[in-house]
Amino acid sequence: MSFKSIFAIVSLALLATAAPPKKATCSNGRTASNAVCCKWFDVLDDIQEGLFDGGECGEEVHESLRLTFHDAIGFSKTNPKAGGGADGSIIHFSDIETNYHANLGTDDIVELQRPIAIKHNVSFGDFIQFAGAVGVSNCGGGPRLQFLAGRSNNTFPAQDLTVPEPTDSVTKILGRMGDAGFSSNEVVALLASHSVAAQDHIDPAIHGSPFDSTFSEFDAQVFVEVLLKGTALPGNTSNPGEALSPLPGEMRLQSDALIARDPRTACEWQSFVDNHASMVSKFEAAMAKMAILGHNAHDLVDCSEVIPVPSKAKSNFAAIPAGKTLADIEASCKTKPFPKLAVLPGPEISVAPVPPS
Ligand code: HEM
Ligand SMILES: *[C@@H]1O[C@H](CO)[C@@H](O)[C@H](O)[C@H]1NC(C)=O
Ligand SMILES: *[C@@H]1O[C@H](CO)[C@@H](O)[C@H](O)[C@H]1NC(C)=O
Ligand SMILES: *[C@@H]1O[C@H](CO)[C@@H](O)[C@H](O)[C@H]1NC(C)=O
Repeated sequence: MSFKSIFAIVSLALLATAAPPKKATCSNGRTASNAVCCKWFDVLDDIQEGLFDGGECGEEVHESLRLTFHDAIGFSKTNPKAGGGADGSIIHFSDIETNYHANLGTDDIVELQRPIAIKHNVSFGDFIQFAGAVGVSNCGGGPRLQFLAGRSNNTFPAQDLTVPEPTDSVTKILGRMGDAGFSSNEVVALLASHSVAAQDHIDPAIHGSPFDSTFSEFDAQVFVEVLLKGTALPGNTSNPGEALSPLPGEMRLQSDALIARDPRTACEWQSFVDNHASMVSKFEAAMAKMAILGHNAHDLVDCSEVIPVPSKAKSNFAAIPAGKTLADIEASCKTKPFPKLAVLPGPEISVAPVPPS
């Protein structure tokens, strides 16, 4: 037996006899499995009350969720200079990174988050992922994301062009995401985030136009509506990265439209249309990976217990919106028929802009 394997057996034996970790007592009678998690309860109280306006799934939540991606994806398996991953560099070096074209509009949430992270003395990298996880838990039907704490506060700016753009081809997006470690299926799962998304910068004239008709809930409706035949542009002007959308007021990203229809991604996309649970669990898995890009999970402490349990969605079933029929669906998975979905009755709906909070 090698020294290495003897060592492994001895450490296993030690692990088995070690006392269970003592519960730490935190503020307001809450407990945590590790004392370092306690301060995150205080951050939780603070951001739910302040940043998220009393625990809403509003604009700051959408922006915070987007920021988890734009910070973390500054990472490359092949180029260490591309960025440090989920390292808070988008806040540290906001004067550089928020000027990158793909990061347009992230400066608002960066400036809202910065003083809160400093006040609580937590690293920017930790704070961004925590705020995204707490925020999306406020959305009905939302995921309960893992949260690991302990990212260093020291880092360097991410290079430009790590964040995919809606004008990019599917090949380019899958290539960039693959270089950061994601499969094409994981890319599709991550796009469940667009169920609670609106845009301000593709067509600035129609501020707050959502990507689906139920943007206040984390549901599969976006996967259905992006497959509807596009008929018009919500702002009546054509902008780079925008595709025809099916409903008045609704914004469709060209990248979402293409990923929904591409042979490499269409079947995974379609699989979520009638499976909210699978959409949520695959999103949770892909986000767990994204949130620690550039880190080793073993160096971090699991404080997931601090993340609230989301409420259920109003409906676990996506539907064909009123005014449309199954014939309007551009089914794009060659190996499976499009699932039978309910068709909501009534005249064609239009999608109202997200009110600023
Ligand atoms: C993979 C390719 C992706 C592309 C091309 C893309 C592109 C975009 C664009 C252009 C917007 C609109 C921004 C604006 O005009 O204000 C947007 C919004 C958003 N994106 Fe993505 N995105 C991608 C992936 C992701 C991922 C992985 C996440 C998170 C996990 C994410 C989360 C969001 C959220 C939450 C919003 C809404 C922001 C708000 O309402 O303020 N996106 N995305
Ligand atoms: C803030 O955190 C740093 C690094 O984790 C630590 O060294 C420092 O003592 C903390 N400061 C306060 C005021 O708690
Ligand atoms: C992280 O770095 C910023 C900018 O240098 C600083 O203001 C903040 O206090 C640091 N936070 C911690 C936890 O060290
Ligand atoms: C776009 O055109 C349609 C049809 O003419 C009109 O009803 C709608 O108000 C226009 N939208 C905007 C944002 O101008």
